[in-house]
Amino acid sequence: MSLISQDIVRAGQILSSGDLVAIPTETVYGLAGNALDPLAVAKIFEAKNRPFFDPLIVHIGDVSQLHLFTTSVSEKAKKLMAEFWPGPLTLLFNKSTLIPDIVTSGLEKVAIRMPNHPMTLKLLQSLPFPLAAPSANPFGYVSPTKAAHVESHLGHVVPMILDGGPCGVGVESTIVDVGSFPVKILRLGGITVEQIEECLNEKVDIQISSSKPSAPGMLESHYAPRKPMFWHGDTSLVNNDAKTGYLSFEGNLSGDILFELSSKGDLTEAAARLFQGMRWLDEQDIDRIEVKRLPELGLGRAMNDRLNRACRS
Ligand code: TXA
Ligand code: MG
Repeated sequence: MSLISQDIVRAGQILSSGDLVAIPTETVYGLAGNALDPLAVAKIFEAKNRPFFDPLIVHIGDVSQLHLFTTSVSEKAKKLMAEFWPGPLTLLFNKSTLIPDIVTSGLEKVAIRMPNHPMTLKLLQSLPFPLAAPSANPFGYVSPTKAAHVESHLGHVVPMILDGGPCGVGVESTIVDVGSFPVKILRLGGITVEQIEECLNEKVDIQISSSKPSAPGMLESHYAPRKPMFWHGDTSLVNNDAKTGYLSFEGNLSGDILFELSSKGDLTEAAARLFQGMRWLDEQDIDRIEVKRLPELGLGRAMNDRLNRACRS
């Protein structure tokens, strides 16, 4: 059992002692450790059962810390940070020697973001080190958007969960490689492609890979509930006894066991409820889950990406 509390000072003490704390962010809960301490970082990989080839995002509380962990910051990066930090945007930078190789899985570039959650910002600003934090779920499972989600799967390995309430955005941060030309989006997330293109005033490339990616967390079969999930119309596992639960958007599916992402068709509300819906369906007495694609725009793209990885076909 973890201590579930709002005590930021206690969280800071645990982190300073080299242990882990689950932290709230605006996207999903993270499993945090001192990013400059390779042993603390190794504990993160162990707790999640995450392969060491999948690098972690470093979280900072103030842009003034950036120069410590990077060798240079481009004009485009500055533009994006000015517009979207703190917020659900992760940028890649050439890493300084302060960042241990275990954090980046040996890559030259480090992924950094400033999360937009008052408690976690306060925590980060009180610490003399940044926090490495992947989503606080067992590797491959749905990301947690509430403290109770973290407790249910990682409660036995995390000493403390800093409870910051439900996550407002609900899908992970967008990951951008701003040093490539054109600029590359490596993971669709809380900041939309449209927002990034407008800010930079240029078209970006979406390079999301599903097998052996430069953002390996984008592996296929990620974000998956334990119950098999299918696109609507796929008849796998349908038989006389099979019970299906539905993940619906704006009434696009119906059934006895149904989780409605947003009855008014609001993509922002749907994103905030997506992982909660997948977890809820996973807990119902059903054999399979069905879902339909969301509109392929704005946050709908990031949600379709997650659903694609969660669905069996
Ligand atoms: O919203 C988020 O980003 C959440 C919260 C906790 O901040 N974090 C999160 O972390 O989603 P995680 O570890 O579940 O996903 C991070 C993704 C992975 O796909 C990883 O491969 C990629 O970021 N990544 C991390 N460092 C990278 C790097 N140096 N180069 C390329 N991809 C990287
Ligand atoms: Mg994750």
